[in-house]
Amino acid sequence: MKTRVFSGMQPSGNLHIGNYLGALKNWVRIQSDYECIFCIVDLHAITAYQNPAELRAKIEEIAALYLAAGIDPGECSIMVQSSVHAHAELAWMLTCVTPVGWLERMTQYKAKSAKLESVGDGILQYPVLMAADILLYQAGIVPVGEDQAQHLELTRDIAQRFNSLYGDTFVVPGTSLPAVGARVMGLDDPTQKMSKSATGANHAVALLDPPDRIRKTIMRATTDSNPAVDFETAGPGVLNLISIYQAFSGSADDEVKRHFTGMRYGDLKKQVAEMVISHVEPFQQRYRQIVSEPGYLAGVLREGAERVAPIADDTVRTVKQRMGLYT
Ligand code: TYM
Repeated sequence: MKTRVFSGMQPSGNLHIGNYLGALKNWVRIQSDYECIFCIVDLHAITAYQNPAELRAKIEEIAALYLAAGIDPGECSIMVQSSVHAHAELAWMLTCVTPVGWLERMTQYKAKSAKLESVGDGILQYPVLMAADILLYQAGIVPVGEDQAQHLELTRDIAQRFNSLYGDTFVVPGTSLPAVGARVMGLDDPTQKMSKSATGANHAVALLDPPDRIRKTIMRATTDSNPAVDFETAGPGVLNLISIYQAFSGSADDEVKRHFTGMRYGDLKKQVAEMVISHVEPFQQRYRQIVSEPGYLAGVLREGAERVAPIADDTVRTVKQRMGLYT
């Protein structure tokens, strides 16, 4: 039997090249080697207020982007989290074995809550729901970007704690990070991770940005005071641009070093922009095709949910039995 893979993205903000290089590209690469479930995690998105009509549209946009990037619905299950009720159900059971201290230590929780006057409970519980997503399907591998690594460690801790309290129930999942592109930084500020929620006009390249917009954003990227690429002294902005190029092109470290050493920043940026556009343009064409087919997307999502729901129900039944709940 193939190992199961589970991963997901939040339908909030615009998917960007960080989401693609950190996660989606890896999903496409491994989809035929494993039994894959790729989820649109709408219950996670509502930990911050979402305009209902926009959220609904975003869910479909993300699903179409999965397909446009090359996820094959014949091979993988693509589904929306809230359409399989067991995610929320298991999350509660896991909440009851999770110490609050584990959640308060999460760096994303600390960063998010520091910016808020009133912190919603969902923001604290967020990684428990994420653990439920993964453990529900007994996933062995979770391909994500680096920013999710700590949440994955917590998932393992929760699984182990449950297993030791109630007997072996959950597979303890491993994390899979890409070798290059696991942490794409903001183009306007390369000390900050590229993020869907950041608002700066030149912060991110969204997967659906038109080529002209992509060129503009990359040409304005923050670099440093060197005139040309010197790997010994390059600042984070230059290294970020080079790693974006490398992640898209798939070239080896020494090839990239040879190619860019001594190149002036204007030329570096032009080459990075053209590399990004050459990958993103075909992808945008497929996206337009997918959304123009009436009923296609809804069918993919319905089928995905129908395929995975029995696995999820099975896990919940076992968990309820182990805990002595009424089944
Ligand atoms: P989300 O929606 O923030 O991001 C989706 C995926 O993109 C990766 N990513 C990045 N990779 C490289 N560079 C970046 N700048 C960058 N920004 C984001 C993320 O690591 C992620 O893989 N909590 C998750 C969603 C989730 C999930 C799950 C993931 C919910 N349940 C279960 C895996 C398994 C999140 O907010 O991802």
